[in-house]
Amino acid sequence: MVFIHATGVRIPVGTPILNPPSEAGFLVPSNNGSIDGYLNWQTPISCIATIDEKSQFWGMYGMVNQAIEQMVCETHGEEAWEKIKEMAGIDVDVFISNEGYPDDYTYRLVAAASELSQTPAEEILEAFGEHWVLRTALEGYGDLMHAGGNNLKDFLVNLPNFHTRVVMIYPKLQPPSFDVSDVTENSLLLHYRTHRDGLAHFVVGLVKGLGKMFETPATITQRDSRAAGADHDVFVVTW
Ligand code: HEM
Repeated sequence: MVFIHATGVRIPVGTPILNPPSEAGFLVPSNNGSIDGYLNWQTPISCIATIDEKSQFWGMYGMVNQAIEQMVCETHGEEAWEKIKEMAGIDVDVFISNEGYPDDYTYRLVAAASELSQTPAEEILEAFGEHWVLRTALEGYGDLMHAGGNNLKDFLVNLPNFHTRVVMIYPKLQPPSFDVSDVTENSLLLHYRTHRDGLAHFVVGLVKGLGKMFETPATITQRDSRAAGADHDVFVVTW
């Protein structure tokens, strides 16, 4: 069994730890073996978390950070990627596709890319959304993407079920939830719910990417924003 520190560091059971200033001890499983808090160097040893099957400590699959790496290397070169990791304070040589990494790593990478390129993080997330659809998804999971629909409208209408199939490949996925409403011949409302913050612009880029995939340029504007107090994010998509 492995424990995961609040910073995302993985710590095998039995690892000696030092709780500054004076406590020292060894990691032991919590009583019921489930999450009851997370370890922080200042907290007592009983306050620990195990990585359980779908715990929030799992974070995101490494394929997300790999895709960011691919996008950065293709547009700005490998040196820029190394610099971004350094600026983000992330000491990972190679991201492993089906290992979990804290969500925080992804946010820090985006923030560092934004700082280095002097580009708003929203624009980076949007570009990443397009990259995700056109490169990561289409090139790596073409069959799955084509099974999602034959045109933009069908794909969006089927989107609520899309990640259900992805979960079959990646069982620890913590996917977003999508719904559609007000569907007409050339527009719909896309409802997006997630426990993660700050990814609305990623969704904008994803939908634009889908528009390119189906050669159906799409316009997407945000109607309701969770960041501004709405229950969830709602986008108007027209094509
Ligand atoms: C075969 C294609 C796809 C794969 C393999 C895939 C897989 C993933 C993975 C691994 C994550 C990170 C979350 C985690 O690890 O728990 C993720 C997140 C996400 N995916 Fe997908 N995905 C695909 C296609 C799509 C499409 C087409 C959309 C929407 C148009 C989409 C929307 C999102 C969003 C918005 C997130 C951010 C997480 C959140 O909102 O909580 N994905 N997906």
